[in-house]
Amino acid sequence: MNNKLPHEGPESMMPLLPVFSRVIAATLMALVPLGMAHAGDDNVKIGFIVKKPEQAWFINEQRAASELGQEQGFSVVRLAGEDGQQVLSAIDNLNAQGAQGFVICPPDVRLGMAIANRAKQYGMKVVTVDDQFVGGDGEPLEGVPHLGMSGYKIGQQVGNAIAEEMQRRGWKMENTGALRISNNELPTARERTDGATQALLDAGFSKDNVIDAPQQNTDTTSAFSAASPMFSKYGKFDHWVIYALNEESVLGGVRASEQYGLSPDQVIGVGINGSGAAFAEFSREKPTGFYGTVAVSSTMHGRQSAENLYQWIVQHKEPPANTETTGTLMTRDNWESVREELQL
Ligand code: GLA
Repeated sequence: MNNKLPHEGPESMMPLLPVFSRVIAATLMALVPLGMAHAGDDNVKIGFIVKKPEQAWFINEQRAASELGQEQGFSVVRLAGEDGQQVLSAIDNLNAQGAQGFVICPPDVRLGMAIANRAKQYGMKVVTVDDQFVGGDGEPLEGVPHLGMSGYKIGQQVGNAIAEEMQRRGWKMENTGALRISNNELPTARERTDGATQALLDAGFSKDNVIDAPQQNTDTTSAFSAASPMFSKYGKFDHWVIYALNEESVLGGVRASEQYGLSPDQVIGVGINGSGAAFAEFSREKPTGFYGTVAVSSTMHGRQSAENLYQWIVQHKEPPANTETTGTLMTRDNWESVREELQL
């Protein structure tokens, strides 16, 4: 504040000045968030970085964030971060463009500290979506608000859907193998597959029939490679159920079962996401071993995480530390109505 106003009578104004300047300063400070929320419009720019930019889930998430930006008047820069190097250059790039923060689904959750540090260095705010950063102790990294699925519960929904469908088909548990396409390094994945396994065990499934197929990544190709050897290795089973952290991976397992020669009525695959990958499968003329998927709104994940970050930037309102979202079972029979309901 300029303390020297040109027309002041020196004696009469002096005692008033400190109070006056404090009032002005306070008023200005109170106005900043509001002013920016409005002008945010042109001034606020956020990044939206995803680990798998080619997957329908992430395409939709980024699209939804951009749409929210258009509605509320801020810009969203959509970027790929498929490995640590790409993420760090994406952050440099955002800083060069004057972005105030970014939403990220990291390619490796253990990069959390490095990513958070780079953001801090630039004075940017960070929120995670889908996969939460972990610290050196393997626990969620504090200070980075997160929005993601309630993994264990959604996993249980997968397991229950499989158990019900097995019963409907009259399959015997002892002749059925459960292919758990796993990625135990990633907490997001472990929670979901643990939830599904537990639901199957609760339904009476034997632990010995649960076969682990560890995948190196979270996509169809890595799941296909992980699943392929298992069908011949455990050729004793008449039927198979397949689950994983997402539908892309379950699709990899289903494709591998087809290649081995299993028919759709010998396989129950249930995924997670409810994205374009599942819609394409349900739109095929004939059913496949991909029975269903627990759909979660990627539209909501994209919008809400962007909104949380935007509010944090303009209103200084820190988002909740952890927001958990829920899912709905989507099958060939109801996929179109669930899609509509979740605004996908
Ligand atoms: C992880 C998975 C994605 C999707 C999101 C949803 O990132 O890799 O396929 O399931 O979680 O939260």
